[in-house]
Amino acid sequence: MVNTQTIQFPADTLELVHKIIKRYPEGKQKSALLPILHLAQAEWRWCSPEVMDYVAGLLNIKPVEVYEVATFYTMFHLEPVGEHVIEYCRTGPCCLMGGVDVYDHLKKKLGIETGETTPDGKFTVKEVECLAACGWGPVFQIREKYYMNLTNEKVDEIIEELSK
Ligand code: FES
Repeated sequence: MVNTQTIQFPADTLELVHKIIKRYPEGKQKSALLPILHLAQAEWRWCSPEVMDYVAGLLNIKPVEVYEVATFYTMFHLEPVGEHVIEYCRTGPCCLMGGVDVYDHLKKKLGIETGETTPDGKFTVKEVECLAACGWGPVFQIREKYYMNLTNEKVDEIIEELSK
């Protein structure tokens, strides 16, 4: 097991964590795993083994139970990421709407490939499956925000805005 002594939610977040855990019956605290993993990722930007072990301790479950959930969902980052994680939809409808060209433009503009982070730590590019906005493709998700009907020009504007 990894040393989790240095990992600790701030007091207000910890209070929220305990409130979330109390939503579930005794013995079913594992049901709080997803919202707590989201809080952990918001706090530390990615779900390192130390963070996942800490979450396991909070829920009194085995670390492997956290790993198996965190590795299943692409929204959890298992490697360090940049300040802005650009997740682009690689599924068919978005690609048919010009996604391949737009995503190539994005990667060329940032000088990185999928799964990489810019040297300044500002951007990470990830590819994900359908983001459920198929009618408005190509689509990016950056945190909770969707960017739709993307073109190369729109990508340039988004990068410029986020670079400020
Ligand atoms: Fe891209 Fe569904 S195919 S959002």
